[in-house]
Amino acid sequence: MESTLTSKMASFTLPPFSKGPESYSQEYATSLDAQDPLRDIRKEFIIPTIDDTHTKRIADSSTVQALSGQVKSRSGEECTYLCGNSLGLQPRRTRDYVQRYLNTWAIKGVNGHWQNLEDGDYRPWVDMEEDLKPQMAKIVGAQTGEVAVMETLTANLHLLMASFYRPTKERYKIIIEGKAFPSDHYAVQSQLHLHHLHHSEALVELSPPEANSSLLPTSYILSVIDAHADSTALLLLPGIQYYSGQFFDIRTITAYAQERGITVGWDLAHAVGNVPLELHDWNVDFAAWCNYKYMNGGPGVIGGLFVHERHGKVAEPTEGSSEVSEEALGFRPRLSGWWGSEKSVRFRMGSQFTPLPGAAGFRLSNQSVLDCTAVLASLSVYGQTTMQDLRTKSLHLTAYLEHLLFSDAPGEKSSDRPYSLITPSNPEERGAQLSLLLKPGMLDFVQAELEAHGVIIDERRPDVIRVAPAPLYNNYTDAWRFTKVFKEACKKALEAKNGH
Ligand SMILES: Cc1ncc(COP(=O)(O)O)c(C=O)c1O
Repeated sequence: MESTLTSKMASFTLPPFSKGPESYSQEYATSLDAQDPLRDIRKEFIIPTIDDTHTKRIADSSTVQALSGQVKSRSGEECTYLCGNSLGLQPRRTRDYVQRYLNTWAIKGVNGHWQNLEDGDYRPWVDMEEDLKPQMAKIVGAQTGEVAVMETLTANLHLLMASFYRPTKERYKIIIEGKAFPSDHYAVQSQLHLHHLHHSEALVELSPPEANSSLLPTSYILSVIDAHADSTALLLLPGIQYYSGQFFDIRTITAYAQERGITVGWDLAHAVGNVPLELHDWNVDFAAWCNYKYMNGGPGVIGGLFVHERHGKVAEPTEGSSEVSEEALGFRPRLSGWWGSEKSVRFRMGSQFTPLPGAAGFRLSNQSVLDCTAVLASLSVYGQTTMQDLRTKSLHLTAYLEHLLFSDAPGEKSSDRPYSLITPSNPEERGAQLSLLLKPGMLDFVQAELEAHGVIIDERRPDVIRVAPAPLYNNYTDAWRFTKVFKEACKKALEAKNGH
């Protein structure tokens, strides 16, 4: 397939940044911002002010007052938001999109589903997916028909496993990582239980082979696949590991497992909108993601899934057959709902399910238009660039952050550094996130100091903080400011610990 991610604009490269003493200054960060070809996309987002992060009353926020027209412009310095791996910031245009949805609902009621309105380039609600799908497909490197915007991540993993995890007496195991996101553990275990399989026998967990490392090298993953090749039905891995930030070699791992008869699915929560993906060309069987992290759709917003085109085909059923096979039914067995059925028959209220071809045929319910509206607003921001260009900036920005954190600025000694990097230092093996392991007992103090200075990151107890410069809206000054506040916080934490 021709890459859907190829930039329509001329792609850019960024010059290597200086590693000299000047690189630690704020002026240098400002100069990098000035050279960033994507810098204006930041203006598409509402960056909270430091006061916003501290206020206890929405009405007191000058950002809210400015957005509602009470004041002309807001006051105060912007915060340093490096938490897009958890919840992305609000695109400015989301407000207009949602307002339009509310207005349509207010004046049209049910007819908002079907009626074309002349003002604005929007479709009626039932046709929204015609806008959502191609834009979402670009982000994950899929054909339009291979993606659906639907449900939520854990629900989608269940729906996909219901169809793709079909254990037999010989092949019944599921391989996941031992440190998989808890929801994935629960989902996989419950799928095993529903097939009368106990997880102590049917679940294979990958654990980092090296002590003192959270990473799972590809060679190790392939060796575990080999060890369980004949008895494994499904391999389910994250595209990017939520804790370590490791970006897995999706293409190699998928091909290797599939050659051994294993179905391969990916949880892309931390990869979607963060790194370029080529799900179609990598021949991935299925994948699911959420749209609230790097995708900026809002907390708990509707998610997405990918089903490779070869699994979404719909043919005539075998007449008179009572067999329950893909061939006899004419489609892959799945958990079905009316929104997965052919649009032309959806409102005829028949009882015979005929799925739409592709990922759309895996949908259950009518989608929340409010959610889809927010996702569409966010996708239209992505439409201003490409995943390749975002990756170029992301690699540069993350490398700069790593430089500020791990090279010796004037007066610093690496032996004094009370933190280390658990994310791979190879840029190809990570996305926009650096996870830092602090010395024991520092986390609460450091976190409180960061918050006091309006620096938003997230923590994973007992000792890790995750710092995610999202290339859509973060800049080099964010990396610089985080490092400054963080290093001072570490120094104070150590002094407090040592009783100074
Ligand atoms: C890797 C991963 N998997 C699954 C989930 C669960 O997502 P949801 O609550 O949308 O089902 C998350 C949520 O952050 C996650 O990071």
